[in-house]
Order: sequence, then C-alpha cells, then structure tokens
Amino acid sequence: MEESKEAKTSLVTQQKGELLSKQSIVSRSVVKNLIRDAIEAMNKAYTPYSRFQVGAALLTKDQKIYTGCNIENVSYTPTICAERTAFFKAVSEGEKRFAAIAIVGGKNGVITDYCPPCGVCRQVLREFADPKSFLVILAKSENDYLLYFLEELLPMGFGPEHL
Ligand code: THU
Repeated sequence: MEESKEAKTSLVTQQKGELLSKQSIVSRSVVKNLIRDAIEAMNKAYTPYSRFQVGAALLTKDQKIYTGCNIENVSYTPTICAERTAFFKAVSEGEKRFAAIAIVGGKNGVITDYCPPCGVCRQVLREFADPKSFLVILAKSENDYLLYFLEELLPMGFGPEHL
C-alpha cells in the first residue's frame, strides 16, 4: 500500500522500475527519516536575502545522519548551500564514507517542487561520494521523492581519481 503510493507519486518524472531498483540500496524507512531530517534542517536555514530555504540530510555508510541548511551572508558570495554545510559538518567530524543525501527546499520554507543541488554542491558531492552508488534524494515530502545516482546528476565528473 505504502510502496504503491510512493511509486505512483514519483512516477511523474521517474520510471517505477528505476525508482524501485534504486530504492533497494536505501530502505524506504531510511529514506523517510532522511527526508524528515532534511525538512527539520530546512527550517533552520538563515536566508534573509533570498528567503529560499534549503535543508539536507546526509547518510554515512555507518548509518549516521548529518544535517545542513543554507546560511546566507550580507556580502552574498560567502553564502553556503545546505548540502555543503552537511558534508563539511560530517567530514570535519572524521566521516569519509557516504551513502545518500536527501535535499528539500522552497521559498520561505514552503516546498512546492524538487530542489536539485547546484553545480558547486554536485562537485563537492563528487569529492566524497561514489558517483555510481551514491544516491541523491530530491523530495517534496516523505512520500514524494525522486532517486538519482550522483553520476546521473554529474555525468563525466572530474573526481579525485583524475588527478
Ligand atoms: N541553495 C542551496 O542551499 N542548495 C542548492 O543546491 C541550491 C541553492 C541556497 C543558496 C541560497 O541561500 C539560496 O538557496 C538561493 O540560491
């Protein structure tokens, strides 16, 4: 029941089979927890300039979760995205092995669409995550989300192995 509802809501842009095969990498309940944590983090965003709030919840391979929100700055360029906040929190705590990240966002914290990561964040993900297995979860709610491998969002990315 739960599964079919989830498959239907995500079918808009993602094939059912594709979603379910990716779903086998991270369980439905873990995905739900990540989305819940991402929404909680989004509510802590500091966004006086854009009012666009983003939240991220990063899952390590040891099943630990690190959250992040975007933090803006009056000088604009020092602004940091939610995804990078989550990654830098985790890496600064000694984490190096990651499985997935859930991302949510919306103007004034109201989620009306999926919030894809910016190019800079995709590159930061590429530094620490395996493009073929790391899952990016773009969510509108706990029951409405899309699953992507990092490789799909950053094809032919430049990674640590190239240097
Ligand atoms: N933002 C993120 O936090 N993550 C993204 O991947 C896209 C953009 C933030 C940065 C800025 O505070 C606001 O959204 C508007 O660009």
